[in-house]
Order: sequence, then structure tokens, then C-alpha cells
Amino acid sequence: MDLPVTKQRPSQPATRSNPALRGEAFAANCAICVRNLNHTFGEGELKKQVLFNNELTLARGEIVIMTGPSGSGKTTLLTLLGALRTVQDGSITIMGRELRGLSAQQLGDVRRDIGFIFQAHNLFTSLTAHQNVRMALELKETDVKEMNRRAEAMLEAVGLGHRIHYKPQQLSGGQRQRVAIARALVHNPKVILADEPTAALDKQSGRDVVNLLRKFARENLTTILLVTHDNRILDVADRIVNMVDGRIISDVMISESQAICEFLRRVPLFSGLLPDTLTKVADQMELVECKAGDVVFRQGDVGDNFYLIRSGEAEVVLEKSTGNETVAVLDEGKFFGEMALETGEPRKATVRAKTDLHLCALDKTEYESVRQTSATFKEEIGKVLFERQR
Ligand SMILES: Nc1ncnc2c1ncn2[C@@H]1O[C@H](COP(=O)(O)OP(=O)(O)OP(=O)(O)O)[C@@H](O)[C@H]1O
Ligand SMILES: [Mg+2]
Repeated sequence: MDLPVTKQRPSQPATRSNPALRGEAFAANCAICVRNLNHTFGEGELKKQVLFNNELTLARGEIVIMTGPSGSGKTTLLTLLGALRTVQDGSITIMGRELRGLSAQQLGDVRRDIGFIFQAHNLFTSLTAHQNVRMALELKETDVKEMNRRAEAMLEAVGLGHRIHYKPQQLSGGQRQRVAIARALVHNPKVILADEPTAALDKQSGRDVVNLLRKFARENLTTILLVTHDNRILDVADRIVNMVDGRIISDVMISESQAICEFLRRVPLFSGLLPDTLTKVADQMELVECKAGDVVFRQGDVGDNFYLIRSGEAEVVLEKSTGNETVAVLDEGKFFGEMALETGEPRKATVRAKTDLHLCALDKTEYESVRQTSATFKEEIGKVLFERQR
């Protein structure tokens, strides 16, 4: 059977590779465009400026993370972008529409095209998950049957098909957050604003939440601005902007290799590598995406790559004349495929994606050079080989 996996390095939208396009012509066509934005709270002696001369541009389909110290102005900026506050000074355009000077009713219209996800998810406790999600459709849709169908489909999509009639207090924190996400996405917004959406979640639920957002954004060309302190999810973004004391002070593009680098840093296998080597290894790595059920390699194949799991689960299956036997399930940070590279023998087992799977693949030559460079790498591989050969 052929390998139905796809190798890809996501290409950058043309708008990002050409800084000239970040000018006015681009602004007219971008999803979020902030120019010279100031904001002040209070009156008289209590008057306090909290945002200063901010400039920010998000292309359609772009995912940007905003970080920064507490009190630096992130939520204030988000509420301005979400038409939840009136723009006092400067300009904000959302999908080409200038917010400054809009009436309360016009601001309400803008809000309908935005999906909001906040840390305190603001679900109505007396309503079921289904009713909470459906509410977001009631602003636009009138066909009750259609609303019910879409709310149900969205809850299915976030993995809560079996909980649609539960009320918030009968759901876990992660499940509630997924209801809030379903509510934010159900009306197909072109822009999503998220404030600390993973703060109350454990590592896995947090990862599930961002994967869900990323999948939605990629499929629907939705723009996402996500405020977070959670450095475990930085790799979901195309860019990171940093806000300090009311000013956006940096705006960094995350290349795929930087994101892989961030990931490798957290994997013990690579912890012995110097930063330069780590960057080089990350540059050499190919991203491999598999759907649940895909075969990564088959028992008996020639070994050409070493694989590290970036997200998802893989199962290792021994194919015997008496039937197949799953001998291990590997998850994020675990690796496989080293044995055939070490011994030169064919693959000893089949590896299959148990869930959707993101892998980083290192070819034989690169694998060999990392092995030569890092004692930790050699030692960790040695330990695992010993375990797996027993
Ligand atoms: N409604 C308000 N009235 C007066 N001052 C406010 C109001 N909301 C926020 N501020 C002040 O504006 C500043 C920025 O607050 P903001 O909530 O935007 O920060 P933040 O970056 O989101 O912080 P955190 O990471 O803690 O959520 C703070 O000094 C805060 O005290
Ligand atoms: Mg905040």
C-alpha cells in the first residue's frame, strides 16, 4: 500500500513575503488593520492612557498570538477590535470596515461577524450546550431547524456530540471551553478574537483547543488574534506580537523551522544540542501530516527517516502470520523509526496514525550527524533501542 501521507511546509501568503504590500493598498484588503490607535480610561485626575500609537495588520487567514505582561493593554485592544468599545483616537478596520465613528447599532452589526472566546467563557448556566451554541445563530438565522442542525454539527465537530443537552455545570472545564469555541465558530465568523482561551485548561485540553482553532482557520480562511501567556501553544501561530505598557513593541514572524525549534527544545532527546545545532536540525526536518488510520511506514520497508511526534498518537503494529499485534502507542514528544537507521535492516514493524498525526521527519544523513554531535541524543536513542529490542 502507498503511503497516503503528505509532506508540506506551509507556504507564506504573498502579502507576508512582500513588506511593500503592508501599505495602504494592503490595509484595504486585510482582515484587521489598526493605525495609530490610542485609548484612555477615566476622566479628570483619574484619566489614564493605556494604549499608545499602536499599529497592527493581520492578513486574512493569519493566526497571530499576542503576549505581554499583565496590565499591558491586551484585553483593551481586543475589546476595541471586537467593537465592544468605541474607538477614541486612531483607526481600526475589520474586514475593510472602519469602526471609528460607528453608531451603537452599527457596532452591533460588526460584532456579528466576529467570534469571541474569552477565558471566563460566559456560557449561560441555565441553557444546555446546544442552546448556548444556537444563541450565536439567532442573531442572523431565522430557520429554527437549520439553527438546530448547525449548532448540533458544530458541537459534533468539537467532540461534544454526546453532550449536547448537558448544562455547563455538568461539563468539565475543557468541555465548557469547547462549547464556548463552538459558539464562537458556529456562525462562520471571518475574524476570531480569543482572550486566554487555554488558561484554565490542562496541557492536552489546551492543545486540543488550539488545534481546533487552527483547523477551522485553515479551512475557512479565518483570521485569529489570540491573547495568551501559554508558551505551550506558541507554535500554532504564524506571528507573535508583544505588547508592553500599551505599545506593541515587537511583531515576529514564526517560520515553520522556528516553531519546530520551540518544540524540539521541550523534547528530552534534543536537550543536549546547542542552540545553533538545534536550529539546523529544525531546518532539516520535514513536516509530515497523517490522517487517523494512515500508514507512516510498513514492516519490511527500507528505513529512510527518523520520526518525532509533534502532536497526535501513533501505534506500532507487528504483522505476524497469526494476525496483527499492537505493541505500543506513542504520543507527543516520542519518536520512532530509529532502529532501521541504526541497524540498516528493514522496518521491524508497521507504524500507523492512531489519531490525526503531525510528525517531524529527519532523513538518514541528518539523523547520523545529530547522533554524532550529541551525547544526550545517542544515550537516549541507546536506551530506547535497548527497551524495544527486548
Ligand atoms: N474599564 C477600565 N477602567 C479603567 N481602567 C481600566 C479598565 N480596563 C482596564 N483598565 C486598565 O488598563 C490597563 C490595561 O488593562 P488590560 O485589561 O487591557 O490589560 P491586559 O494586558 O489584558 O492584562 P492581563 O494580562 O492581566 O489580562 C490596566 O492598567 C488596567 O488597570
Ligand atoms: Mg487581559
